[in-house]
Amino acid sequence: MAQIDRILAFETSCDDTSVAIVSHDGFVEACCSAHQDLAHAPFGGVVPEIASRNHTEAILPLIEAAFEKSGRTWADIQGLAVTNRPGLLGSLLVGVVTTKALALTKKLPWIAVNHIEGHLLAPLLQDQDYQVAKDFTFPYLALAVSGGHTHMFIVESLGRYRLIGKTVDDAAGEAFDKFGKLLGLPYPGGVQVDRLSKTGQIDKYKFPRSMLKEDNLDFSFSGLKTSAQRLLETLSVEERRANLSDLCASYQQAIVDVLLGKLEKAMLMYNLPRFVLTGGVSANSKLREQAEKLSQKHGWQVAVPPLKYCTDNAAMIGYAGLMRLKMGQASRQDLGPSPASLESDFI
Ligand code: KG4
Ligand code: ZN
Repeated sequence: MAQIDRILAFETSCDDTSVAIVSHDGFVEACCSAHQDLAHAPFGGVVPEIASRNHTEAILPLIEAAFEKSGRTWADIQGLAVTNRPGLLGSLLVGVVTTKALALTKKLPWIAVNHIEGHLLAPLLQDQDYQVAKDFTFPYLALAVSGGHTHMFIVESLGRYRLIGKTVDDAAGEAFDKFGKLLGLPYPGGVQVDRLSKTGQIDKYKFPRSMLKEDNLDFSFSGLKTSAQRLLETLSVEERRANLSDLCASYQQAIVDVLLGKLEKAMLMYNLPRFVLTGGVSANSKLREQAEKLSQKHGWQVAVPPLKYCTDNAAMIGYAGLMRLKMGQASRQDLGPSPASLESDFI
């Protein structure tokens, strides 16, 4: 096994630029990120060209910030890791090119990591304030829910991720964001819908729970969005405004019911003892609250990493990369980014 004690890692797959320094057992010594929500807000979604330009500007200062925060220098780093798939090609390219240039100049091994693998391992990260329970071990079910993915995996061990369900159309975060856009809320809609839902009535409006009763573990959210669109067309501007919280709470509940309904089905089907929520949507307060209740009902262990490790971050990429480099894996200089996962990434 290679002697890799500490790694410098990069995440630029979408609209967050993140650089982290991660040491043994996933201890996060620094995780410095630049978010671009404000840059994309006027467009109601991520604009790829703007995202890559901002990554280019942010990445080098973030490396300096990570070294400063951790008190480390290049002499302490034995390897590099970067997200090279899946994601926006132009965004991924910034991280990959930076990593490969550094690997060459600093003469360090580097490893390309699948972004989703990062999310799946995020609960195992540690820092001064967070550590998962000692008996929270493999295997566990992971529900990865974000703006780009809604996937359910059994994390069997490091590198063995069994995909057991995924969305057949929109991701859960996309469903939140599109609804926010329909309501004229600031981007990203998920955060706003969560906030407004707190004072709303969850059963005022009826939204579909697509595929919930079906005998599989896949998700679908495009029907929900269409049904919301139709409902909103029947409401005047005043009615929408007066019922904003109820609209949000009812819509949010439909998403949470489907996510946790399928999760419960999967846990029972595979007889698993523990699960994690990860990805940006796992920040949702209703989802967290109901996941906790579900775990109590069945006596399951649950882990929800702190928000900074649920949303896109380089620490989770660093952990996956550290473990892989330690196992002797490394990427070649001619490897580039890929917008999609590889077939071999999941079993
Ligand atoms: O993991 P992430 O930061 O980036 C992607 O890989 O997509 O997830 C971003 C997504 C957005 O769709 C955003 O609306 C959603 O996570 N999100 C939320 C909340 N916070 C972020 N959705 C619902 N409730 C929240 N509190
Ligand atoms: Zn993500």
